[in-house]
Amino acid sequence: MANNPKNRHELVEKNVGLLAILIVFAISLGALVEITPLIFQKQTTEPVQNLRVYSALEMEGRDVYIREGCNVCHSQMIRPFRSETERYGHYSVAGESVWEHPFLWGSKRTGPDLARVGGRYSDEWHRVHLINPRELVPESNMPGFPWLEENVLDGKLTQKKLEIFKNNFGVPYTDEQVASASQDVAGKTEMDALIAYLQSLGHAMK
Ligand code: HEC
Repeated sequence: MANNPKNRHELVEKNVGLLAILIVFAISLGALVEITPLIFQKQTTEPVQNLRVYSALEMEGRDVYIREGCNVCHSQMIRPFRSETERYGHYSVAGESVWEHPFLWGSKRTGPDLARVGGRYSDEWHRVHLINPRELVPESNMPGFPWLEENVLDGKLTQKKLEIFKNNFGVPYTDEQVASASQDVAGKTEMDALIAYLQSLGHAMK
């Protein structure tokens, strides 16, 4: 009898096709309930109060960071656990990442999280460390990146990059920032750019 609740349940249990459809439906509904509010919540879509855009030099440094695969060993996502916040500082919040394209949160940590490394060391510390990490941390297995000191930026694409972030991703660069982008970085080394980027990490929640 289909009207008997017991039999209806049996129908689902014995019919794999129907069971699969109902499982997919249940999971989709659950996902929608979890995800949809995030799209509209201010907390996840609005920048935190002190967030500023990356300067042209920091933006180039970020591209070096991605090219060299720093994000393969370093996350930029402090989880809300005491063991993490005591070591790295305030946990990461979504409003810090609204202008990140792509975001570099990651979860693989061969080295420490870098979400708030800005200001923790001097520029000179980073320079020495990036050329040969073992000079400062003898047991380090981080590779050295000595060529960054020799590669000089010409800035040819910098203006274009800022333009794309401004026009396509809605990152609030001013016209002056875009206009001067190329000359802001021309002549600087990739090392200068990467260090500028590292020093900017976490600035909004200090
Ligand atoms: C093979 C994995 C690996 C790669 C790739 C790597 N690192 Fe590291 N990094 C480490 C390890 C391990 C440490 C901890 C030991 C040390 O300080 O050298 C570290 C430490 C650091 C620190 C010090 C963090 C702190 O809080 O003390 C910084 C900054 C850093 N790395 C930046 C970078 C940058 C920038 C790149 C890319 C150019 C990079 N790393 C690439 C493994 C890596």
